[in-house]
Amino acid sequence: MSNKGKVKVGIIGSQFEADIHAESFRIMPDEAEVVAVASPTPGNAEKLAKKYEIRRVFTDYKQMLAENDIEMVTIAAPNSLHAQMTVDIATAGKHVVCEKPLCMTLEEADLMIETCKQKGVLLMYAEELFFTPKYVKAKEMAEQGAFGKIYMVKQSEKHFGPHAPWFWNVERSGGGVFMDMGCHGIAFCYWFLGRPNIKNVYCQMATHVHADKTKGEDNSICIIEFANGAVGLIEDSWARRGGMEDRIEVYGEGGVTYADLHMGNALPTYSEYGYGYAVEKAPTTKGWTWPVFEELWNYGFPQEMYHFARCVRGKEEPQATGEDGRVVQEVLYAGYQSAGKGHKIELPFQPKGIKKPIDLWLNAKA
Ligand SMILES: NC(=O)c1ccc[n+]([C@@H]2O[C@H](COP(=O)([O-])OP(=O)(O)OC[C@H]3O[C@@H](n4cnc5c(N)ncnc54)[C@H](O)[C@@H]3O)[C@@H](O)[C@H]2O)c1
Repeated sequence: MSNKGKVKVGIIGSQFEADIHAESFRIMPDEAEVVAVASPTPGNAEKLAKKYEIRRVFTDYKQMLAENDIEMVTIAAPNSLHAQMTVDIATAGKHVVCEKPLCMTLEEADLMIETCKQKGVLLMYAEELFFTPKYVKAKEMAEQGAFGKIYMVKQSEKHFGPHAPWFWNVERSGGGVFMDMGCHGIAFCYWFLGRPNIKNVYCQMATHVHADKTKGEDNSICIIEFANGAVGLIEDSWARRGGMEDRIEVYGEGGVTYADLHMGNALPTYSEYGYGYAVEKAPTTKGWTWPVFEELWNYGFPQEMYHFARCVRGKEEPQATGEDGRVVQEVLYAGYQSAGKGHKIELPFQPKGIKKPIDLWLNAKA
């Protein structure tokens, strides 16, 4: 395996997030190049490979892992597969970039972290909000004292539901919108506040509009109390009409800032006829719409992958790690348990033998 020049990357998956990974490496090509893609449905990996001129294509990711020159593998497959894939990638001696949420259970998180340590490879957690330019700017201002002592941080992500069927199947996803998008908000608040200890978690959730499709919750509210006195407030929805929302609010005794990723990076547009593409999960391009530009850049995906490649070369220290993903996993457990029990859950909260986080809500409700 070469350890100079561009980092050679393999991607597992060929659909939504895999495309984002491939496009991100194309946008920032200096540190890494995608040389292989693996995806089980015949024809799908070929299609992605053709779009991004990726030379090697596999239907079985284990065959891709046998390729000697590949140094880093990104996982863009359903949540229930993350842990096994990570173990396989690390065992093949390659660095791991794992999509959010890290995995299904705390036991899996421990196994992933431990295996990567033992095999001497990095486990990098693909939380792009740590790289989102607007959010990074807000954090820089906070660190310069712009807001004084911060007492509350909010993050919310909302749309009308995911794009692929497996998200609705809690056996494969581990939970509904709290698992899928709450993981972003938990990570964001934790990172923004400088990774303070977490005291407790309170959550409310329900399935308001998609009960025909899923046992998972489609709306959730989560309050995290941090040991430094600050509060994180995380709102997520798969029940929100009108397309995608992703925003933050930061409140300190000396100031406040707001950032809206979509409306804030868009062209207020009216079209009688519609046009090609507005933004992820936009239901229409007719009437009033808010088409974004530089969508992946505004999210921070290319910057994230560039950073991970530099970590593989030892040029930077990972800013988003398996340990961060494990903290998120514990808060997911606590959140589901809180919603089930109807009260705050104190951390540490690390029950053993849970099959998937949502069970802590579903079983408590039953
Ligand atoms: N960071 C983000 O903002 C973000 C956004 C979307 C998705 N994601 C995450 O990315 C991951 C993938 O989600 P997606 O939206 O791309 O889903 P998707 O359904 O669009 O794609 C899933 C891919 O995984 C592949 N896959 C399924 N089983 C596999 C197997 N056994 N081996 C190899 N590949 C297999 C599928 O063939 C498909 O190509 C999920 O963990 C999701 O939470 C993250």
